[in-house]
Amino acid sequence: MVPELAVPDPCPPAETFRRYMVGTARIAERDGVPVGIAYYQVLDRAGYVRNLITDPDHRRTGAGRALMEDVRTLLRAAGCAEWRLNVREANIPAVRLYESLGFTPAYQSKVLVVPLRIADDEHPPTMVVRPIEPDDDPIVERELDLLPGLVASARGRPGRVLLLLEDGGEPVRSLAGAAVFDPAFPGAYPFRARSADAALALLAAIRPHARPTDDSISLVIEDAEAIAAALLARGATLRDEMIHMRGQL
Ligand SMILES: CC(C)(COP(=O)(O)OP(=O)(O)OC[C@H]1O[C@@H](n2cnc3c(N)ncnc32)[C@H](O)[C@@H]1OP(=O)(O)O)[C@@H](O)C(=O)NCCC(=O)NCCS
Repeated sequence: MVPELAVPDPCPPAETFRRYMVGTARIAERDGVPVGIAYYQVLDRAGYVRNLITDPDHRRTGAGRALMEDVRTLLRAAGCAEWRLNVREANIPAVRLYESLGFTPAYQSKVLVVPLRIADDEHPPTMVVRPIEPDDDPIVERELDLLPGLVASARGRPGRVLLLLEDGGEPVRSLAGAAVFDPAFPGAYPFRARSADAALALLAAIRPHARPTDDSISLVIEDAEAIAAALLARGATLRDEMIHMRGQL
């Protein structure tokens, strides 16, 4: 069913599904036949619906709503107070479904394909990149407005590169950005920067971790029009426009 998402992202390999997704993946069946799938994550206080797909031959028959109601029940039981998701702006069926469940738009994001060559090796010398350590997670998530638990959840996945960008020099450093890069994807999510310079510095830090065969990567730029515009002006291409929606559980 993954091709139904109509995104160029590859279908997760069976091993990834078995190991990391099946625990919070739900299948909708009708007369014993699978007609839909939902995959969600439980973060600290919020549930994150990562995928919802129904079989095209069984659309508009209640499978999508049934899966979402099921996920809502499970998230409430897991102690979550709200749920979130990303959806393409143009995906009217999905947006209508989410609105009917009480979701409202929180912000827009752009999915960009960014050539690694635009990474700025000349970024200000006060900008320093280091790994995000577990102790950093709450500060990174609070200051960069990330969902609590998102960084820890990414750390648990194989191959992820967690990068934190600081600026200002000693002794007073400030958080200038953070990214989680998956070389196998290849792409970064989340990718948060406080300025276009910081975004380019983060990209420069990502570049050595990219596979030699990849000359561009995908970045999700959330709620940051100026950064998206700066990357587009340097040669990135717009792959998708998404809305981040949230709702009370
Ligand atoms: C979005 C999707 C999961 C909806 O699944 P579904 O099984 O058709 O959903 P349901 O039959 O339960 O419909 C639930 C509600 O969705 C909305 N909806 C579904 N299809 C719609 C359409 N074509 N136009 C407008 N609203 C629609 C309606 O509000 C509907 O409620 P109603 O039938 O009482 O009016 C399905 O269209 C899909 O798999 N699309 C491709 C993958 C995708 O885009 N997933 C979402 C990624 S964020």
